[in-house]
Amino acid sequence: MERRHFGPTPREVALIGQGTWYIETAKRASAVAALRRGLDLGMTHIDTAELYGSGAAEEIVAEAIAGRRDEAFLVSKVLPQNASRRGTVTACERSLARLRTNRLDCYLLHWRGPYPLEDTFAAFEQLRAEGKILSWGVSNFDVSDLEEAHKIVGAGRIACNQVLYHLQERAIEHGVIPWCEKHGVAVVGYSPFGHGDFPGPRSTGGRVLQDIAKVHDATPRQVALRFLVRRPALLTIPKASKGEHVGENAGAGELRLSEVELARIDAAFPLGGGRSLPIL
Ligand SMILES: NC(=O)c1ccc[n+]([C@@H]2O[C@H](COP(=O)([O-])OP(=O)(O)OC[C@H]3O[C@@H](n4cnc5c(N)ncnc54)[C@H](OP(=O)(O)O)[C@@H]3O)[C@@H](O)[C@H]2O)c1
Repeated sequence: MERRHFGPTPREVALIGQGTWYIETAKRASAVAALRRGLDLGMTHIDTAELYGSGAAEEIVAEAIAGRRDEAFLVSKVLPQNASRRGTVTACERSLARLRTNRLDCYLLHWRGPYPLEDTFAAFEQLRAEGKILSWGVSNFDVSDLEEAHKIVGAGRIACNQVLYHLQERAIEHGVIPWCEKHGVAVVGYSPFGHGDFPGPRSTGGRVLQDIAKVHDATPRQVALRFLVRRPALLTIPKASKGEHVGENAGAGELRLSEVELARIDAAFPLGGGRSLPIL
């Protein structure tokens, strides 16, 4: 599995990671096995949150990484309503306990809420100084939020911005991706399959994905994942609770698309509302 720099940190992280939203709704053994299969295949970036299943997803992740903690790049998130100066620290400690680990590789503010960013970021810095988190970032931040955050903490602190990004929702290409690229912040795209709304084989876009997939002996989902990580700042975190899905998603790491193929996908899933980014 290809790895990329995680924003300004010295760490490298798997291009295709693993999400865990709703993973607790699958059979526990299957969910744990799927995450472990992902680790076997190099999908070491595991994304979870205190929100998911009210902590149940973190407990499943704990089971999956038991005995393999050092292989994983573990990310969790604090809920906005918990993200006060003190609340962030205690939320992190609860997540660490559920995950049965002493550190997170990255800790994110899930989305902006009632508390000043200064307070949440001060708590993140405290957690970092204590070694409970190795880096921190944000999620669902638009350009004005990023500007505000950057003014508070300066360069080199915000590791990533985790944001919605799939073929039918490319809004971050207008401003968020260029901002993150300029400031060395990793862009972690979530819901790469549209949270269960992947383009069907009979849709115009779906046919383009199939055509390209055939050429590479790949699948439309692998082609989609590869498109979503076509720029160096981009990472993606599909969620799969079935082993065969994990295997398919990992396969995208091996795929290489030509500029012509990327341009065909770009045209089949129009960005809307402005100019696209250059293909590469
Ligand atoms: N920061 C945020 O606000 C935020 C918001 C949303 C999501 N996220 C993160 O991003 C992750 C991914 O997003 P998501 O869970 O919304 O949706 P997603 O990854 O776009 O889609 C997940 C769905 O796709 C299915 N799937 C996965 N691989 C497949 C394959 N190869 N073939 C067929 N179906 C496949 C899964 O099925 P099975 O489970 O049955 O395998 C599941 O139903 C989340 O789990 C979460 O960690 C973050």
